[in-house]
Amino acid sequence: MSFRISIGVLLAAISLGAAATEQETRNLVALGALSFADNCIKCHQVDGYGEEALYPSLRDPELLANKPLLISTILHGRTGKQTDGSEERLMPSLDFLTNREITAIIAFISNSWGDGVLLVTEDDINKAR
Ligand code: HEC
Repeated sequence: MSFRISIGVLLAAISLGAAATEQETRNLVALGALSFADNCIKCHQVDGYGEEALYPSLRDPELLANKPLLISTILHGRTGKQTDGSEERLMPSLDFLTNREITAIIAFISNSWGDGVLLVTEDDINKAR
């Protein structure tokens, strides 16, 4: 009898834990939508398609599964070489964003246009800062 009760308690604890995580993921995606609007939409556009020849589309599941690339692009931006060999800034560095905002933006774009929510950790971001 006491065995059955403890299993029941255990199952209840597990399902509560799962619900909290799901809610947390939903909150993260919602925050990501706001941060994306504030920091990314002006170039990559609201639908993530960007603008031909100027800003690349983010609607690429392979890109949206690549944690190191996403983190370093957001933190450090992108530069390209000009014909005279000098560096040209293509995408600005957005390293003023907090770890939580970056985690949220990545959760949002991967959930919207990738194969599912990609969760990066604070540690992943700190290592790339
Ligand atoms: C001022 C315009 C601008 C803003 C703002 C901007 N980007 Fe970009 N982004 C670019 C450009 C331009 C490139 C392409 C650079 C290149 O050709 O290497 C790029 C590239 C990228 C790439 C790499 C695409 C690939 O195929 O490799 C990702 C991912 C990305 N941006 C995500 C973001 C996110 C997320 C935000 C907001 C946090 C953001 N960008 C804000 C202009 C911008």
